Amino acid sequence: MKTPQLPPFDHTPQPYSGPSADEVLTLRKEFLSPAIFAYYKRPVMIVEGRGQYLFDEKGRRYLDAFAGIVTVSVGHCHPHVSAAVNKQNALLQHTTTIYLHPNIAEYAQALAAKMPGELKVCYFVNSGSEANDLALLMARAFTGNFDAIALRNGYHGGNAAGMALTAHSTWKFNVPHSFGVHHAIAPDPYRGPYGDDDPEAGRKYADDVKSVIDYATSGRVAAFIAESIQGVGGAVVYPDKYLHHTYEHVRAAGGLCIADEVQTGFGRTGTHYWGFETQGVIPDIVTMAKGIGNGVPLGAVVTTPKIAQALATRIHFNTFGGNPVVCAQGKAVLEVIERERLQANSLTVGNHLLAGLRGLADRHPLIGEVRGRGLMIGVELVKDRTTKEPAKEETLHVFETAKDLGLLIGKGGFHGNVLRIKPPMCFTKADADFLLEVLDVCLTKI
Ligand SMILES: Cc1ncc(COP(=O)(O)O)c(C=O)c1O
Repeated sequence: MKTPQLPPFDHTPQPYSGPSADEVLTLRKEFLSPAIFAYYKRPVMIVEGRGQYLFDEKGRRYLDAFAGIVTVSVGHCHPHVSAAVNKQNALLQHTTTIYLHPNIAEYAQALAAKMPGELKVCYFVNSGSEANDLALLMARAFTGNFDAIALRNGYHGGNAAGMALTAHSTWKFNVPHSFGVHHAIAPDPYRGPYGDDDPEAGRKYADDVKSVIDYATSGRVAAFIAESIQGVGGAVVYPDKYLHHTYEHVRAAGGLCIADEVQTGFGRTGTHYWGFETQGVIPDIVTMAKGIGNGVPLGAVVTTPKIAQALATRIHFNTFGGNPVVCAQGKAVLEVIERERLQANSLTVGNHLLAGLRGLADRHPLIGEVRGRGLMIGVELVKDRTTKEPAKEETLHVFETAKDLGLLIGKGGFHGNVLRIKPPMCFTKADADFLLEVLDVCLTKI
């Protein structure tokens, strides 16, 4: 097979004169937490980025199909975003919300304009974990109820609240974090009891949430939270109407519905700006992070004016939330998504990629399922299509070989056997074709 060639790209990376990758690795081992992990047997060092491409210290170019874990939404170092931030950085970097500043107010207005229904009150935080923590607090304060329901195979963060809501043993420490949190069955048509061939699957999975309310709580709940497509869990797309039926059960029990849009928001799913819209629902609270900021520490919680009142009964403050530099970046990101029609691009390129991946599945039995929406895609690898035994070692092999060929992707799923393809939304069809060629070579070499 021919070695796949990256699409041409007109950018020369700057010469690099810092420490070598080996030296950086040594520093990391000595001075950083042993809990942080690096991808790849021989980790890559990335020192520059433009658009959908990354450059290592030797100037080698890679296609970035994982976007810094689904975070670089509009492309690395987008000139419009960089200009907005540089301008603000030179003027004023920080004051907090105790003084007025136009950036936070104008940014909140612009973000609210993207929201459906009554969702318009914004809180700015620094990460997705913090956003979910705040959303849970808000739901508890508003409803006066305590119990929360999340989904198995879901990921919502690494702080106490995020870990409580997360349902992957791999991410949960053995401490009492999940008090009051219950996990319903993951509505996973590939591995769960109801598949895509069952037109009632959405309702049947939602019945499990009702069952959790009935059997595991007082019958009154504060909140239900779900990612709109499970990200870390391996791009699990729920059956139609799942959230619709679930929200009915939750609201009947007095609870609020929280959509975690940390990965699925800002047009990534292609057909809609928000992932929850693909399920035809409007949540009561929406949490955001990652792609909202294209790489800066920015997260947000958006809710209705009525629910927001619940947090006004105490002092609630966040030092960096609404920082002028970060808000300048967030606003510029919204503008680029709009101007460059990145949602439409996610749909076109995503559909092209999904069709190409399904073509690969016809020739490579290792592919158990190709799923996703827009540029939020998972490819689940199995040793056997009937038993669905996860092909963990093979996934690692594909992942490593792809890197050697110049393609960076992610991996996930509870068993670590799902290739995660979630590139910056400026990804082109030529990039998608390169990715398909690379995966074809990787899968053929096994
Ligand atoms: C769906 C989802 N929610 C929340 C989080 C937590 O975000 P952060 O890492 O910014 O705290 C993540 C992170 O991967 C996520 O994927």
